[in-house]
Amino acid sequence: MVRCNVVQSNSLSTCDQRMPDWIDIQNAEGLLPGQSTVVEIDERRIGIYNIEGSIYAIDNQCPHRGASLAAGAFDGALVTCPLHRWQFNLITGMAVEQPGTHLKKFDAKLENGRVFLDRETLDKQATCDGIHRHLIRYGTMGWVGVFGTIEQVDCQRGDPVIIQTNRGRELGETLMATDNGSMPSEQPIGELLGIATDDDISGFNIARDNVQVQLISECDEHIKRLGINVEIVDSELLFDQTTIVFYYVGEATEQLGQLSAEFGNANNVTAVFHPLIEPEGGGCGSGGCGCHSEE
Ligand code: FES
Repeated sequence: MVRCNVVQSNSLSTCDQRMPDWIDIQNAEGLLPGQSTVVEIDERRIGIYNIEGSIYAIDNQCPHRGASLAAGAFDGALVTCPLHRWQFNLITGMAVEQPGTHLKKFDAKLENGRVFLDRETLDKQATCDGIHRHLIRYGTMGWVGVFGTIEQVDCQRGDPVIIQTNRGRELGETLMATDNGSMPSEQPIGELLGIATDDDISGFNIARDNVQVQLISECDEHIKRLGINVEIVDSELLFDQTTIVFYYVGEATEQLGQLSAEFGNANNVTAVFHPLIEPEGGGCGSGGCGCHSEE
């Protein structure tokens, strides 16, 4: 762990017209290509990576469930989160397999054998990253999260919207619009794709009513045949109509992975098994991490 001193400071005007405020991080001799380190600035941990001689600075906290990315594998331009193995491209900041999810990036440079980090990108990242944030409620369980868009979406409180989560494409309800000054500045957990039309909603409701009950009874048959000690208590067909989430009571075992694969293949869907009651500490076993889904 390295703690930093400010060596140069420049005044700022706006996000677009500003001078960098470089912080001297460390001697570059200790950060050769392929190596990384973590620095702490204002109680915030930043991962510093040397990729083929260029320096990249990334928030060390995984946007999924907050694991330390520094504890994960770093190979080429990819870092793999140690907790649920999401991978991120350190150059673009984007998650490899989770659309709309990305890491917070900060400006960094190598100069005269030392590594510098732009403090202003630390301070301004939350509000000047070009992302419009919306607070959205979604899912049968009524989860609430911040969803982002690059283009402004003109939705108001109560508007139905289509969002991309790590489970798939879903319907949600707008709780707070982007220009509200109280909007949490945290990293979005997914992407707001647009406002849902009446046709979107009625078409989806018909499809859901047709398949949901039938799929629960089919799933029960698979469970009996495999002898798995869980009971399905609810289900949720996502808006993409290719992902079905089963909420269960019982023990999360590896057999749920087999069940997910068998059921998904038999019905040409992605089956996600989510415990009705989250295991202590969250993590594996939740549909959010995708541990028990097969595509
Ligand atoms: S905490 Fe990083 S992938 Fe889940």
